[in-house]
Amino acid sequence: MSPNPATPVSLTRHLLEEQRAGRINADLRLLIEVVARACKSISIAVGKGALGGVLGDAGTAGEASINIQGEAQKKLDVLSNEILMEANAWGGHLAGLASEEMDHSVPISDAQPRGNYLLLFDPLDGSSNIDVNISVGTIFSVLRCPDGIGQPGDEHYLQPGTDQVAAGYCTYGPSTMLVLTIGHGTHAFTLDREIGSFVLTQRGMAIPEDTKEFAVNMSNQRFWEAPMQAYVGDLLAGKEGPRGKDFNMRWVASMVADVHRILTRGGIFSYPLDSKCAAKGGKLRLMYEANPMAFLVEQAGGAASTGRQRMLEVQPTGLHQRVPVFLGSRTEVEAAVKYHAEHDAG
Ligand code: AHG
Ligand code: MN
Ligand code: MN
Repeated sequence: MSPNPATPVSLTRHLLEEQRAGRINADLRLLIEVVARACKSISIAVGKGALGGVLGDAGTAGEASINIQGEAQKKLDVLSNEILMEANAWGGHLAGLASEEMDHSVPISDAQPRGNYLLLFDPLDGSSNIDVNISVGTIFSVLRCPDGIGQPGDEHYLQPGTDQVAAGYCTYGPSTMLVLTIGHGTHAFTLDREIGSFVLTQRGMAIPEDTKEFAVNMSNQRFWEAPMQAYVGDLLAGKEGPRGKDFNMRWVASMVADVHRILTRGGIFSYPLDSKCAAKGGKLRLMYEANPMAFLVEQAGGAASTGRQRMLEVQPTGLHQRVPVFLGSRTEVEAAVKYHAEHDAG
């Protein structure tokens, strides 16, 4: 009996078909299944909102809990991190894990079966939006553990984005969606809440090459570098300016939600260097925000850059390293890069 082509394709079936096609091994398939299962749990916690007692800041009364980023943690940041850690500790597919919410990576203990992969994640992205009921998400990236390393340290995660074997995000919005790449296109799955399963709803996402939509936090304008000032100035000049067309602007302040819109209908997402974050190298984190998103966007035909270098080719120097980010519709990312190149050339 062969499968009915009209039957919805679950994430499980999709991954099995990828395995049979030789594009993924059983370990990576099961690792992705575990991450997807953890995302379902996070989706349930997020969806309960005030009824689940999960809104607001973590920490005890009067004393906020501050993470390695120097940012106050929300209860859901902590809970999402715990859900991902617990789900992945015993699967046997990982050598170690690293998270936005933890100072250092954590090797899988000797007591547990150990695999060959490293998992990095931003457990809850856009957490400033939790308490106002706006979409948040989870972002993840999978690397190989270098050969011969049983107990990986932070340094073993410092691999360029081109070395990622899988990346994805889950967006907790009006519907919960998982968007995934294993290096053979970017595919979107929607959570069917009644059967508790992710169902393939868009095979081979393709970002429109051109766009009239940009995403940036405009309140930082006066802190930007000159090439960013010039680039956005020309977008704002619209039809009468050098770009010759009117642009629209959107900014959710959840990278997952902004990138999901861009993967679906095009656009450019940017978090450029500004004088407030210059000392740190940027605002967004390379290893579990910029790189997985860059992989997904490139696999959907878009482009991703720091403004001066292809994102996936950046050689990381720290687990929590920050970078400037430009990603989305190819033509627009190339335009932003050109402003930087022309500025740097004087
Ligand atoms: P996180 O909640 O994981 O710290 O990430 C927040 C990020 C990203 O999701 C978003 O694009 C950006 O920060 C928003 O920054 P502003 O608040 O400066 O707009
Ligand atoms: Mn984030
Ligand atoms: Mn986060």
